[in-house]
Amino acid sequence: MSPPGARGRHEVVVRLAGGEAERDAHFRVRHAVFVEEQGIFTGTDRDEHDDDALHAVALAGPLVVGAVRLRPLDEPGLWQGDRLAVLPEARRLRAGAPLVRFAVRTAAERGGALMVAEVQVPNVAFFLHLGWERVGEPHEHRRIAHQRMRIPLAVADQERAAGP
Ligand SMILES: CC(C)(COP(=O)(O)OP(=O)(O)OC[C@H]1O[C@@H](n2cnc3c(N)ncnc32)[C@H](O)[C@@H]1OP(=O)(O)O)[C@@H](O)C(=O)NCCC(=O)NCCS
Repeated sequence: MSPPGARGRHEVVVRLAGGEAERDAHFRVRHAVFVEEQGIFTGTDRDEHDDDALHAVALAGPLVVGAVRLRPLDEPGLWQGDRLAVLPEARRLRAGAPLVRFAVRTAAERGGALMVAEVQVPNVAFFLHLGWERVGEPHEHRRIAHQRMRIPLAVADQERAAGP
């Protein structure tokens, strides 16, 4: 099947991975991006948090083209989003932004008050565009410059109440 965007455009649907096939596809996207493309991880990017985190997928038609992971941290109300990835051939087709919005909305719906993420510096503008703010200065994580960012989930709630 041709990559999404090569012929025609599918509307992107984001949802929690439903069943084993979508969960596997979620991990395949992460592997393609973080192990093969970026080389941030060797072998696998899966870790102990995958045992209880929520795994979301972005679908363009029948194809899973994106992934994000989210989980509550120990501090009450605090959620972390990570492993945001869109396959290279599906970038800029508006899969990334809905994945981030879905993670934020899902955390808010589950009682979260604040979501944080360690964002690769070249993506800071993307997150600012989506209403996130910087926390502190950039730092190195896995040999790559990252910026801690956050978004208050009450804001996400208000936006949801205000409609699309
Ligand atoms: C970051 C990433 C998820 C963005 O996904 P995407 O599907 O390309 O993003 P979208 O198409 O939804 O982009 C939404 C908007 O942000 C813009 N945008 C996307 N990436 C951007 C970036 N790095 N900097 C600035 N703007 C960006 C798009 O142009 C678009 O703008 P528009 O709404 O005005 O058209 C994707 O590039 C990716 O997977 N990168 C590799 C892995 C990675 O870096 N993960 C994040 C770790 S923090």
